[in-house]
Amino acid sequence: MDFENNDFVCRHLQLTKKDIVRAIREKNLSTFDEIQDETDAATVCGSCAADIEAILEEELRKRTSEKG
Ligand code: FES
Repeated sequence: MDFENNDFVCRHLQLTKKDIVRAIREKNLSTFDEIQDETDAATVCGSCAADIEAILEEELRKRTSEKG
């Protein structure tokens, strides 16, 4: 599923796509575990984990293409 910036990705922690992307960019995160440490995302029901991984992959792809 594609999220808009203001959509909740993790409903339990009230994290929007924008929150996740910001954490990834500001802290230069590159793994799901790092996102989880940073935001506590997916620590309640875990059902958002796959969506968070998808956002991470999208960001990592952007990061690589910006460098290249
Ligand atoms: S929606 Fe993220 S832990 Fe439940």
